[in-house]
This record gives sequence, structure tokens and C-alpha cells, in this order.
Amino acid sequence: MNLIFLGPPGSGKGTQAKMISETLDIKHLSTGDILREAVAAGSELGMKAKVHMDKGDLVPDQYIMGMIEERLQSRVLDDGFVLDGFPRTVAQAEALAMMLARYGKDIDKAILFDVSDEEVIKRLSGRLYCPVCNAGYNYPSRLPKRQGRCDHDGAELRRRPDDEENVVKNRLGVYRKQTEPIIDYYRKQSLLTNVKAEGPIDSIYKELLKVLKENQEA
Ligand code: AP5
Repeated sequence: MNLIFLGPPGSGKGTQAKMISETLDIKHLSTGDILREAVAAGSELGMKAKVHMDKGDLVPDQYIMGMIEERLQSRVLDDGFVLDGFPRTVAQAEALAMMLARYGKDIDKAILFDVSDEEVIKRLSGRLYCPVCNAGYNYPSRLPKRQGRCDHDGAELRRRPDDEENVVKNRLGVYRKQTEPIIDYYRKQSLLTNVKAEGPIDSIYKELLKVLKENQEA
């Protein structure tokens, strides 16, 4: 199954994408994670991307498309994938469609995770991650066993620089202006399904499984 997860920052795309990729045994590709790895490695791409990411702006398409094509190799295309944080502009969505068509593939479903701005700000102000293993935590919804320390390796947990409130507000503005037009793009192709993304993570996941099952049966 080939899936796209859409939604504002903090809507839970990454959390749900990790879960569904394990259940369906498909590849989880997060452009945000790939870019953060490049930043941590200090690569040329990372240095260029960081300037945009720290402000909450999109990284220019010229860096993103090559990165995606490199990772959507034949095995991933054959096994299926969930794209999390990509596409983020109509231009990226069109480029993706052209790229998949070259390999005789297409998208099965685009899921839009619906969440209010208030919930986004609350979630992102409580988000922490482990710089060693990338495990995610949240105050108060996903607490580590020991305060401020990763359950897996004991490393000191950190905040993402783009989770500062003023940057989150810009990310929400960028989402409205540059990413929301994709919703119509996929709706017109009858690929879009909304999932209400507030409430417990497991309940949202159950709803996600339900809509994907309905899609397979249709
Ligand atoms: P990216 O990392 O993709 O950031 P984002 O889309 O803003 O998404 P987030 O990771 O903040 O949130 P999410 O929806 O995945 O939610 P999550 O599951 O983590 O991108 C970062 C930057 O990279 C961009 O700003 C841009 O600069 C650049 N970039 C990336 N892709 C790009 C592209 N295609 N083109 C150009 N630039 C690109 O959950 C958030 C928190 O909430 C977690 O702590 C989680 O534990 C918690 N949580 C999740 N679900 C729930 C729930 N139901 N209840 C309570 N808490 C919850």
C-alpha cells in the first residue's frame, strides 16, 4: 500500500506513520527526519536545510525531490510506503505523481490528520526527543520513565529548535499557505480521507486502520 500522511505540524503524522509502517510492513519515509539527520551529520544539504528549518520555512524543492527519489528505490516501491511530511506543496505532489508514473506506481490513499491549532501548540511545547536513538516523548502524553532521560539509552532528552512557540506559529502559517492546497489536489482525485486526530494515540490509530480497511474493500 502506498500512503501519504498530510496534516499540520504536530498533527501526529510521524507517530501514526511509524505505527502503520510496522503493521503493514511498509517503508516509513519522513522528509523531516531525513533532513534532521543531514543537519546532525553536518552535510552540505544539512547546512543548507537548517537555515530554513530553524525559521519554520520549507526547504526549497530542489533539495527535497532528489532526496525522495534517492530513497524511493525499487524495493520500497514494490513493498509499499508511507510518506510523512512529503509532499508539502502542489509542485512536490505533481513531481511525485510523475516520478511514480515512471515506475508504473501510484498513490492508494492520502490521509489528512485534522487537529486544532491549540492542540498543535500544546503538543509541540511538550515534545522531547532522544538525540542518540531519536525516540520521541511528550509531556504529558508520553512520559519517559526517568524525567528528562531516554528510556532506551539514558541520554538527555532535547527539544527540537523549531518547536519554540514563535517558530511553531510560522510553521502553521506556512502549512496554511503552501501545504493546504494539496488537500484539494488529492480530494479532486478522490484519494483524500480525513481522520480526526485529537484524543488518545491508540484511538486515532484504530480509526486509521478502519479507513484503510474500507479503502481496501472498496
Ligand atoms: P517535519 O519533521 O515533517 O515537521 P512537521 O510536518 O511540522 O511535523 P512534526 O514532526 O512537527 O509533527 P507530526 O505531525 O509528525 O506529529 P508527531 O507525530 O511528531 O518537518 C520539519 C521541517 O523540515 C519543516 O518545517 C521544513 O522546514 C522541513 N521539511 C520537511 N519536509 C519538507 C518538505 N517535503 N519540503 C520542504 N521542507 C520540508 O507528534 C507531535 C508530538 O505530539 C509528539 O511529541 C507526539 O508524541 C505527540 N502526539 C502525537 N499524537 C498525539 C495525540 N493523539 N495526543 C497527544 N500527543 C500526541
